[in-house]
Amino acid sequence: MNTDYLTLGNIEVTVGTVRNEQNQGGGEIIYQEAVDLVKTLYPNHQFERCFEWCAGPGILGYSMLEFGVAKTLCLADYFEPSLRVARETMERFNLQDKVSIYNSNNLDSIPETEQWDLVIGNPPQFPGLIQLWGPNARDTRLYMDKDWELHKNFFANIKKFLKPNGKIFLWECAWGSAVGTFKPYIEAAGLKVSRFGNANNSNYMEIWYWIEIEYAD
Ligand SMILES: C[S@@+](CC[C@H](N)C(=O)[O-])C[C@H]1O[C@@H](n2cnc3c(N)ncnc32)[C@H](O)[C@@H]1O
Repeated sequence: MNTDYLTLGNIEVTVGTVRNEQNQGGGEIIYQEAVDLVKTLYPNHQFERCFEWCAGPGILGYSMLEFGVAKTLCLADYFEPSLRVARETMERFNLQDKVSIYNSNNLDSIPETEQWDLVIGNPPQFPGLIQLWGPNARDTRLYMDKDWELHKNFFANIKKFLKPNGKIFLWECAWGSAVGTFKPYIEAAGLKVSRFGNANNSNYMEIWYWIEIEYAD
């Protein structure tokens, strides 16, 4: 098995078997832009604890930690091979005092003692099967959120983990959704969309956009 690494500042994030795409969920393309966006919107601010939802190997989350956007990090996913490489990164760079990693179906197994002021995510971005990637079509786990059940459940439960001044940034794909797709679930949870915009790093396969979400009141 090839082990591949992505260098982020002073650490290398293990991304494992990148070539079979197991861990290639897009974080490797958008991490720099994600860091720059949050830094631009919150200059001179360091978040206390960042959670990466649907983290896979944790590229986005480790970027936020390594480039100083957040002091500590929490990662969760339900795919153990990705979590294994996420743990490897934590152990190689002795980040155990700053990083917690949970195997969790959505938010189900995360203790409510976890409290975050920054939540980021590049979750599955399509509500059904797509042929976008051809016959080698990726594992549906990476891109399909059937009928948006994962998103709905995330919005319905995130508030208990989100500090009142907390911000959520999601990267979504314009081929699969628009901001309005999620707005009803966001608002039903007592949250609101505060800003959104196009992602610059969109490539021929995916047109990303980002949404910022916060408490409605
Ligand atoms: C598009 S990939 C993104 C991975 C990583 N965040 C990145 O940016 O490279 C989506 C991720 O969502 C995870 N996922 C899908 N359904 C999930 C669920 N029910 N609970 C937790 N994680 C889930 C997949 O295992 C996969 O790692």
